[in-house]
Amino acid sequence: MNVLLLGSGGREHAIAWKLSQSSMLRSLHIAPGNGGMESLGTVADLNVMDFAAVERYVRRQKIGLMIVGAEAPLVAGIADYFEASTKTNILVVGPKKAGAMLEGSKEFAKAFMQRHNIPTARYVSFDHSQLNEAIAALDTFQPPYVIKADGLAAGKGVIITKSKAEATKTLRDMLSGLAFQEAGKKVVIEEFLSGRELSMFAVTDGSSYHLLPSAKDYKQIGEGDTGANTGGMGAISPVPFLTEEFQEKALNQVIIPTIKGLSKDGIPFSGVLFFGLIRVGSDPYVIEYNCRLGDPETEVILPRIKSDLLHLFESLCSGLLSEYDLVTDERAAATVILASDGYPDSYEKGKEIKGLNDVGGIDGHVFHAGTKQSRKKLYTNGGRVLALTGRGADVEEAVKNSYRLAEKVGFEGAYCRKDIGADVLDLA
Ligand code: AMP
Ligand code: GLY
Repeated sequence: MNVLLLGSGGREHAIAWKLSQSSMLRSLHIAPGNGGMESLGTVADLNVMDFAAVERYVRRQKIGLMIVGAEAPLVAGIADYFEASTKTNILVVGPKKAGAMLEGSKEFAKAFMQRHNIPTARYVSFDHSQLNEAIAALDTFQPPYVIKADGLAAGKGVIITKSKAEATKTLRDMLSGLAFQEAGKKVVIEEFLSGRELSMFAVTDGSSYHLLPSAKDYKQIGEGDTGANTGGMGAISPVPFLTEEFQEKALNQVIIPTIKGLSKDGIPFSGVLFFGLIRVGSDPYVIEYNCRLGDPETEVILPRIKSDLLHLFESLCSGLLSEYDLVTDERAAATVILASDGYPDSYEKGKEIKGLNDVGGIDGHVFHAGTKQSRKKLYTNGGRVLALTGRGADVEEAVKNSYRLAEKVGFEGAYCRKDIGADVLDLA
């Protein structure tokens, strides 16, 4: 099968790495890709938001299956586009626009959860014509205030503050379009929940599903979960505090009701449902839904799947998901993100990356995120540059191996959090 993977981050490098091990793969194409993917397939310089250009590529390369890595093309309707296309007939891993709305609109997701009795924080929502009402509504919540831009904001659209003045300013900036442009012109204000967070993933066709290994990511830039939210600074899998009892609750109270809720609402879904959960007391609450795999969670989840990922995706798209046998690896994985100095604010690109040939002997994988090749050298090309995934018998050993990778690889101004996994190791 000829496969096209859309995306350019560490998540897509991990997907490409895993697909390249499939006996079903004839050729792998990645667009727009990054500097680490050239050995795994053909890297095509495509704008993934230009669906007609993607369609031309699909025809030219006789692509049979396309995997959409990131949310933006899904929310913009790439799966709908290909379903309607008379020029191509391909399988698409990723939901159509209606299903992607679970990620594309926080308000839609909250209303969906309320409708289907799925546990989540109490909320209210307002649009740009309701600034005064939004400010007044702050008084109906206890600080800290949680304010979310409704639309896509690359993981950065949530502001949590104890200060009412800052909350008011945030509402003003979001609703006026100053912060997050269109994505902020509607907001959700919600109750602050306190507990440990974790992510669960289900590959689903809207009726059957397979749970992928769970993960915990580290969203904030600073150690001890401080500072600005980022796309994610590290991840671990499995999650030591995810007990069997909690998993049962998550399945029965969140995951199954979500899949059934989609079906009741007449919303088809074929792809990965990502559940951002928080454990409050001993109960799961949904913080957010995503309509695709997480980044950097994918860099720890896929190394823990033994079975053929392309076979999983092909089964998903051909109605054979329930017959697929998902085999996971008990061994743990941890990933540490090496980021550019200044990220998630402004940063420089084009720093030479060194040490990639010195990692032999360390149990793990180096996944590229923001990298670029030029004349056989590798350079930084983004905020999150490399995902250094260590493996081990348990999370502690896996974390040690990721930091051993981080000692070998680097570039000018490289930054990583030194405390990935530390909070859960304290539990052991
Ligand atoms: P989101 O983009 O919705 O996942 O939010 C980003 C981060 O903000 C989450 O990972 C949480 O750490 C935090 N967060 C979001 N909503 C809440 C909430 N209701 N209570 C506490 N923390 C939250
Ligand atoms: N790591 C969180 C996300 O992919 O949205």
